[in-house]
Amino acid sequence: MDARKLDKIIEQYVSMPGQVLSTLEAIQEEEGYVPKEAMQYVSEKMGVPFSQLFSVCTFYAAFSLKPRGKHIITICEGTSCHVRGGPRLKAAMLDILKINPEEKHAKSITTEDRLFTIETTRCLGCCSLAPVMMIDGTIYGYLTPKKIPEILRQYEWKKK
Ligand code: FES
Repeated sequence: MDARKLDKIIEQYVSMPGQVLSTLEAIQEEEGYVPKEAMQYVSEKMGVPFSQLFSVCTFYAAFSLKPRGKHIITICEGTSCHVRGGPRLKAAMLDILKINPEEKHAKSITTEDRLFTIETTRCLGCCSLAPVMMIDGTIYGYLTPKKIPEILRQYEWKKK
C-alpha cells in the first residue's frame, strides 16, 4: 500500500474519536487486509504504538494480517456438521484447491491465486442442512465432496 493512500486515510481519521479503529478499517477495506508495513507507517504518523495497533488487529476478527482471497469459504466444524461428514468436506476442499499440506491446520488459508480464503467456524446456524459451508454469505447444505467442484466453478474457479 503506497504512502499517498495511507496519508489520505490518516488525514481523514486523525482528528476523529475512534481514530485507530477507523484508520485500520479503512486500510482493511482498501487492501483486503492490514499489512504490517501499513501498521508501522500509521504508528509513526499518528503517534500510536505499533503494539496497540497490532493488539486491535488481532483482537477483532474482522481484521486480517494476511492477504485474503476474493471469496471467503467458511466450513462448519460444529457437532451436527461434524457427525454428518464435515471433516471429509474440509479435506476434500483443501485437496481440490491444492492447498500446501503444511498449511492444512492453519486457521485461515488463502489460495495462491488469492481467489479463495478458507476458514472454519463452530456453527453456521443451519444445522438441519448439515454438513454446511458458506461462501460470501451464501449457504450450501447437504454437501458431499463431489458437489464442491461444481459450487467452486460459480466463483470463477478453474480446475487445474
Ligand atoms: S453445526 Fe454446522 S451449521 Fe450448525
